[in-house]
Amino acid sequence: MQHKTVKDYIRTIPDFPHEGIMFRDVTTLFADPRGMRLTIDQMLAPYVGMQIDKVVGLEARGFILGGAVAHQLSVGFVPVRKAGKLPGSVISQDYELEYGTATVELHQDAIKAGEKILVVDDLLATGGTAEAGIKLIERLGGDIVSCAFIVDLPELGGRKRLEAMGYDVKTLCDFDGA
Ligand code: PRP
Ligand code: MG
Repeated sequence: MQHKTVKDYIRTIPDFPHEGIMFRDVTTLFADPRGMRLTIDQMLAPYVGMQIDKVVGLEARGFILGGAVAHQLSVGFVPVRKAGKLPGSVISQDYELEYGTATVELHQDAIKAGEKILVVDDLLATGGTAEAGIKLIERLGGDIVSCAFIVDLPELGGRKRLEAMGYDVKTLCDFDGA
């Protein structure tokens, strides 16, 4: 029997959070010991031996991955958080949601100019969340080496959007029918 792939561990929940949305649920992947290890190993493999100074994880699901990837690469972890959560001096960035806008923040002293940054999140849909995180990092002078995700939803155009801006994008699997 073939071993399960990362994609095989991801559960799909129809009509969440609203009708017509197929929710790609990574909690079933994270909860499985083999699934979790496979995911972290595959995510960090392209970066082993490259110069990475910090991993930036995007709240919330990017934290689960980012901490593990940073640990394995022996580098620091920095969170991009939703507004109002970080206690120090922050910079803020608005981004578009399906309805309205949201704001993410980054500690002003979390990244130094010229540092090589790997951005990590669970899923790439429109790319709006990742772009907001990237803008924050670049405002502090960080140099984005790559952006790594588990899931790509190609129909929502996030990969094309980030690649058109010149960023390297790596994903482990994709799902049609976002
Ligand atoms: C989801 C997902 C990504 C983002 C992708 O996060 O975890 O971060 O949406 O969408 P986009 O490419 O269209 O921006 P969500 O904002 O639902 O919150 P969570 O991670 O805190 O659960
Ligand atoms: Mg998220």
